[in-house]
Amino acid sequence: MNKNNILPPEEIEAQQAYIARMRRDNDAYLAEHGTRRGAFVLTFGCQQNEADSEKLAGLSEAMGYTVVDCPEAADLIVVNTCAIREHAEQKALSIVGQYKHLKTKNPSLVIAVCGCMVTQEHRKDDIKFRYPYVDFVFGTSSIHRFPQLLCEKLAKGKRLYCPEETEYLVAEGLPIRRESSYRAWVSIMYGCNNFCSYCIVPYVRGRERSREMGPIVEEVRELVAKGYKDITLLGQNVNSYGKDSGYPYDFADLLAELDKIEGDFYLRFMTSHPKDASRKLIDVMAASEHIARHFHLPMQSGSDKILKAMNRHYDTARYLDIVSYMREKMPDVTITSDIIVGFPGESEEDFEGTLNMLRTVGFDMLYSFIYSPRKGTPAAEMEQVPREIQNARFDRLLALQGEIAKAKNQPLVGKPLRVLCDGVSKNNPALYSGRTEGNKIAFFEGAPEDTGKFVDFVADRADAFAFYGKKI
Ligand code: SAH
Ligand code: SF4
Ligand code: F3S
Repeated sequence: MNKNNILPPEEIEAQQAYIARMRRDNDAYLAEHGTRRGAFVLTFGCQQNEADSEKLAGLSEAMGYTVVDCPEAADLIVVNTCAIREHAEQKALSIVGQYKHLKTKNPSLVIAVCGCMVTQEHRKDDIKFRYPYVDFVFGTSSIHRFPQLLCEKLAKGKRLYCPEETEYLVAEGLPIRRESSYRAWVSIMYGCNNFCSYCIVPYVRGRERSREMGPIVEEVRELVAKGYKDITLLGQNVNSYGKDSGYPYDFADLLAELDKIEGDFYLRFMTSHPKDASRKLIDVMAASEHIARHFHLPMQSGSDKILKAMNRHYDTARYLDIVSYMREKMPDVTITSDIIVGFPGESEEDFEGTLNMLRTVGFDMLYSFIYSPRKGTPAAEMEQVPREIQNARFDRLLALQGEIAKAKNQPLVGKPLRVLCDGVSKNNPALYSGRTEGNKIAFFEGAPEDTGKFVDFVADRADAFAFYGKKI
């Protein structure tokens, strides 16, 4: 077995000394003030980032901080950033800007910025020159060094810009402070090798590297034993799991192994790449007990010309082939996707191709995005589609998908569904909300004890985004 992409355990042990040092300091603070220092972790971006933030929060707790849920109550703020689109970067920069006044009020406040955005040199420079009150900055390869960086910053008092590691490795054994007691993220591989021509991820997350099967199985087993009901395996290209590391098993083998764990829970995974959506994987899903019948399979475009320009390594025929095999094996499977509108060179005909694919496949749900040029990626240098055209196409896509999703949801009205309850709905406080096996939202009149449990539900109506009904 190849262990070359696993961080040597000594490196994690070295962090323990820094954790212990911070812990002593924070315990002394507790003895003096009767309360612990607070740490606030703010997360932008995808589930992978949320999973990383749970490690940053876990490390903060190990260092003797109380994790708090507002920046005003914090003595340490960590902003975990995203770089996927311009909007994500602007939001993070704007929040970091707002923290300046907190630092004025509390000069001992420590502010750190980490994650994908600041793994780019030009953004690291932005922080350096435009946000002088930010204390330290570190990229995605340095998460496990957070305790060391914090200690060094506090000891030296100077601002720190962690140099990027040239090697991106898998760090096992970091403490995790999970946000939920019934839904969990489990990162199984990191990084991406695909270099889709629009995407920044391979530049800010390094090459693919997979965890070994053993620790993953152990982690999922522990979660199930603790009562977790919905466990999502994460990776940028989750179904290429294992390929990078020369393991004698692949993603389908891992799923089959995890499916053997006994208990009442759903297993999910994201995000899959169509090039790695093998029949073996679909067969394992179809035969499984625990794997939710939901496949998120980003298509990005329904034009073969654009898919080629995106460097996606499949065409629409291949995509349709996967979809029909999935539906053959799992007639009730929920299929969701990501679409980029207005990629450079997208003509009206190309866009019509995307709309046609939406009609042909009939996606249950789409995450659609207007193309955003990312510095350093090939597509940023291509001829851009004017903003007005992008916007108009985006609206047409949403309108069509709205009709499709609404029609897809109708046959489920009146049928019993199993819903994992998330408690009182944030958008609709009069109701409780939960998620179906297909990860669709359901609203109903619930009770506090439903939270974190499966409830039997029947919908009396559905729109494009949700089901509305009652507990059975
Ligand atoms: N690794 C996953 C997710 C990547 S980011 C995958 O391969 O699908 C999530 C989605 O953001 C992508 O699927 C894509 O639709 C979108 N995206 C990525 N880069 C983008 C860009 N530059 N502009 C607009 N959308 C983008
Ligand atoms: Fe980005 Fe493509 Fe990798 Fe997904 S597969 S993270 S879209 S480069
Ligand atoms: Fe954003 Fe990084 Fe995820 S760029 S989408 S947080 S991998």
